[in-house]
Amino acid sequence: MSIPTLQLDAKSFDQLRSLVHQIMGITIKPGRHAMIEGRLRKRLRALDMGSYEEYIRRVKSNAEEQQAFIDAITTNETYFYRTPRIWNYLYDNYLNELPVKQENFTLKVWSAASSTGEEAYTLGIFLEHFKRANPKFDYHIDGTDISSQVLGKARNGVYAGRSIERFKTACPELFEKYMVGSEESGYSVLPGIRKKVRFFPYNLFDEPRTSSHYHLILLRNVLIYFVKTDQCRVMENIFYQLKDSGTVIIGESESLNGIDTPLRSVSPTIYQHPQNIQTGKAA
Ligand SMILES: C[S@@+](CC[C@H](N)C(=O)[O-])C[C@H]1O[C@@H](n2cnc3c(N)ncnc32)[C@H](O)[C@@H]1O
Repeated sequence: MSIPTLQLDAKSFDQLRSLVHQIMGITIKPGRHAMIEGRLRKRLRALDMGSYEEYIRRVKSNAEEQQAFIDAITTNETYFYRTPRIWNYLYDNYLNELPVKQENFTLKVWSAASSTGEEAYTLGIFLEHFKRANPKFDYHIDGTDISSQVLGKARNGVYAGRSIERFKTACPELFEKYMVGSEESGYSVLPGIRKKVRFFPYNLFDEPRTSSHYHLILLRNVLIYFVKTDQCRVMENIFYQLKDSGTVIIGESESLNGIDTPLRSVSPTIYQHPQNIQTGKAA
């Protein structure tokens, strides 16, 4: 016997769209019924619910279900070494311009919208590699996301298949040196790197957690889910948490064109605080 599929009517679709926007800041385009149905079907079945109206009521009244709703709706696609140009820029340019000879210099990095952690751990590998050549240098990485499910996977830190494929092929030496494990059990980055990465929940629309704290913020492949006015709010938050000399990197299909931010474009997807790193003067 086949289980009848629940139909998502126009009214419930609109209510879900506004709920998604209210909770996550994500704007779902009109006409994406099938996507929403696909993402929520399993949840409704698990709860044995007979209608979307009932589900909406549950999400509004139950914090736990709200988290499950976030986990079901968000797109969490990510992998190690995503967009090689960025990693080359960081290693060949960015790191070499830092005051690494200075005692007690700790680079503070934020992987905002980190998903399952591949971006934060790729950073960890590159920064660790740099540290071995520059012993006075140190680093700390924060990874945050709105979805608790992906943060659980990030903390677990075991990866296989598509998640590591490109990195393994493109950077075999780094892979061998800084990742341990096997195809069967999955791979993790070295414990010494993991110690320097921590993950916690954070909604980019919430109050800033810090002020002028990060040297480098990776905000990649998340702005695309927000409309311009919401992108402006997020960028204001990001700028607030960025140090005077800091750098922000966004995703390759994203741009800050038309967004009111003091950040200056360095090259596509790479932006810098207007305060110049070496001189302290406006760039
Ligand atoms: C496509 S992944 C990007 C992962 C990684 N930055 C990368 O580029 O590979 C987008 C992530 O943004 C998160 N996200 C969506 N809305 C968010 C919000 N309002 N606050 C924080 N994270 C959010 C999602 O949960 C998802 O894990």
